[in-house]
Amino acid sequence: MKQRKTVYVCTECDYHYPKALGRCPQCGSYGTFVEEKFDAPEALVKEAEKSPRRGALTGGTAVPITAESAGDEPQRLLTGYSELDRVLGGGIVPGSVVLLSGEPGIGKSTLLTQICGVLSRENRVLYISGEESAHQLRLRAKRLGVASDELYILTETNIDEICAETDRISPDVIIADSIQTLYSDRSQTLQGSISQVRECAGMLANLAKGGGSSVILVGHVNKEGGIAGPKVLEHMVDTVLYFEGDRQQNIRIIRAIKNRYGATNEIGVFEMTDSGLSEVENPSAMLLADRPRGVSGSCAVCVMEGTRPIIAEIQALTTKTTFPSPKRASDGFDLGRLYLLLAVLEKRLGLCFSDMDVYVNVVSGLTLDEPACDAAVALALISSIKDIPVPFDLAAVGELGLAGEVRAVSALERRVKEAARLGFGQIVLPKSSSSGIEAAGIKLIRVGSVYEMLSIFTSPSVQQNKR
Ligand code: TYD
Ligand code: MG
Repeated sequence: MKQRKTVYVCTECDYHYPKALGRCPQCGSYGTFVEEKFDAPEALVKEAEKSPRRGALTGGTAVPITAESAGDEPQRLLTGYSELDRVLGGGIVPGSVVLLSGEPGIGKSTLLTQICGVLSRENRVLYISGEESAHQLRLRAKRLGVASDELYILTETNIDEICAETDRISPDVIIADSIQTLYSDRSQTLQGSISQVRECAGMLANLAKGGGSSVILVGHVNKEGGIAGPKVLEHMVDTVLYFEGDRQQNIRIIRAIKNRYGATNEIGVFEMTDSGLSEVENPSAMLLADRPRGVSGSCAVCVMEGTRPIIAEIQALTTKTTFPSPKRASDGFDLGRLYLLLAVLEKRLGLCFSDMDVYVNVVSGLTLDEPACDAAVALALISSIKDIPVPFDLAAVGELGLAGEVRAVSALERRVKEAARLGFGQIVLPKSSSSGIEAAGIKLIRVGSVYEMLSIFTSPSVQQNKR
């Protein structure tokens, strides 16, 4: 008879405690403790010894790191979508585990079905779904034009049955949609509970590390938008991808939060269409498509998303407030940073926002967290409060300091070139780091302080635009 013990576990942060607590002492969440039963250590060891899948990475003897000849990195599997391959660091590494997370309905299953279509041309792919029936999977695949004899579907949620099937057909790529729907008989808790998720993910990770298959897990998000389930899940996998976007809008952005095989700051941009997700290779052009002309409060900014510069539009609106304390709202830009910029503009330029409601919006649901956006946000705010448009062909980059100085930003030349490529005629940039920058067809407006930025509102082209 196995000895089982009970612990209480916080579903948010995996904190263990012998009693259920109202508030988690580790992460501070309320009402997140659930009861879990686990095998006592001795029983666990015996069980592990019996398990045939034990320790794909354990065991063996220590060897020098140089023992295996360098340069024989296994060839990565290309998904056929360069936007995704770039985020992965150049395709899927055989034997790796990728966790793809995102809100329901954002398009995770759609994306995976589409890449199955490409991968199954040269590899055997197994798509395990615990959420949809085989009929639904077939309908989606048909709609997306995916058909291949090497693409297998399996609607099973018992991890042991799944492992039996993977042993039978030995797929090169295994997709589990989603990890929260799988369960193991060894853990006596409910489907989706922490120990179930941990157990099933561990079994699948062993298939990857031991058998050389690549595994992609779909993970649900919790109510705060983070990845649901134990934090250990993120530690168990090699790459964590996050698929985000606004369900009302069609733009979808995929970004790597963790990547053992590549950089984490790259993003991939997709658009949801009637025939599935299509890549957006030129996101700047798409983001700027509906930009208003001759209206105050709008300024273009060039941000770096990984190695790629992207031009986005920032809008600001300032209106007389009817509240005792004025409202400040921001979508896609950090609210704390907005307060700081308003304070700098008040102090250094004498503008008065204290009786104004202020709204800032980054168009198209993009989230900008680079300090290099400061100059553009400041220009949009000044433009709105003065009701003078920023020239339509002007973009801005630069970080603002508390003294009102415009500070250097990274990758300036690449940003300037992207602005020039998209037809911008002038760009505001920090004086300190702009020497040596050359770009044809774009006027460089070098500014050292927020005060110097005001000059753009008195230039002749602006006066023409003024309504
Ligand atoms: P889905 O991939 O099922 O989302 P997830 O797996 O992340 O929960 O995508 C669901 C949404 O995508 C659904 O609202 C319909 C939409 N969609 C399209 O717009 N076009 C398509 O070709 C497909 C397959 C889905
Ligand atoms: Mg789905």
